[in-house]
Amino acid sequence: MIVNNPEKIKLIKDNLVYMEDIVVKFGKVVALNGVNFRVGKNEVVGLLGDNGAGKSTLIKSLNGYHRISAGNIYFDGKHADFTSPKDARDAGIETAYQDLALVNLMSISRNFFLGRELQRNFLFMKLLDMRRMDEIAARSLKEVGLRNIRAMHETVNFLSGGERQAIAIGRANFFGAKLLILDEPTAALSVTETEWVLRLVKEAKESGLAVILISHNAYEVFGVADRFVVLQHGENYADIKKEETNPEELIEVIAGRIKK
Ligand SMILES: Nc1ncnc2c1ncn2[C@@H]1O[C@H](COP(=O)(O)OP(=O)(O)OP(=O)(O)O)[C@@H](O)[C@H]1O
Ligand SMILES: [Mg+2]
Repeated sequence: MIVNNPEKIKLIKDNLVYMEDIVVKFGKVVALNGVNFRVGKNEVVGLLGDNGAGKSTLIKSLNGYHRISAGNIYFDGKHADFTSPKDARDAGIETAYQDLALVNLMSISRNFFLGRELQRNFLFMKLLDMRRMDEIAARSLKEVGLRNIRAMHETVNFLSGGERQAIAIGRANFFGAKLLILDEPTAALSVTETEWVLRLVKEAKESGLAVILISHNAYEVFGVADRFVVLQHGENYADIKKEETNPEELIEVIAGRIKK
């Protein structure tokens, strides 16, 4: 992919994520119809929109989960053609999904290392190095404030929503991700857990990451995001900097009553 328009080269270089004219179709359903989306380096972007607007589809087309039918994706200055979420993770994109956050029947540390398991040699075989994985996962999760987990070898199905998000964030920290994507991380959380997750988003930004935060709650994202991108029916609807708006107005924009 050769780009020779100087303005576009600058946009690709200046942003961590640069997506243009993205089209994603599911059979006859056009989920994204020419969407443009960018995330600056170390920027927290609130991705907003009504149910079915295309938010999850957009982040899943960025991280290799969905193939795009048209458009271009650049990540970290390079044309990105991730063919799987693992590809994207290796490039520095850590995602906590709305619907498939963790593998329920696997242990906490296996979820932490998902796809990047540590191995050790035993005779002529390679075995998973469970002990080291448990140690590292425990240390990293403690750093993000996950204090009262029982044991790393327990399965994750008993964890609370906040604890699940913390595993994704701890993973992003440990593996040196550049971008953290959280798809409705607070949808099913208690007030205290929500505060904790939002604080972790702030800390992620402080430690140099960029974050895409999908949410339905304008008040919540307003506290942590630098900019808001609103989708409607699979198209761009608004792109507003925090200093140019307020939560009440954002709600009107999301509902489609104000166009910015
Ligand atoms: N795997 C799929 N197969 C078919 N249609 C899909 C699939 N995933 C999403 N869609 C459709 O694409 C559109 C966008 O869905 P998407 O999940 O991206 O919306 P969303 O903005 O994340 O909504 P929500 O806020 O409810 O999570 C919807 O019409 C949805 O039904
Ligand atoms: Mg969604």
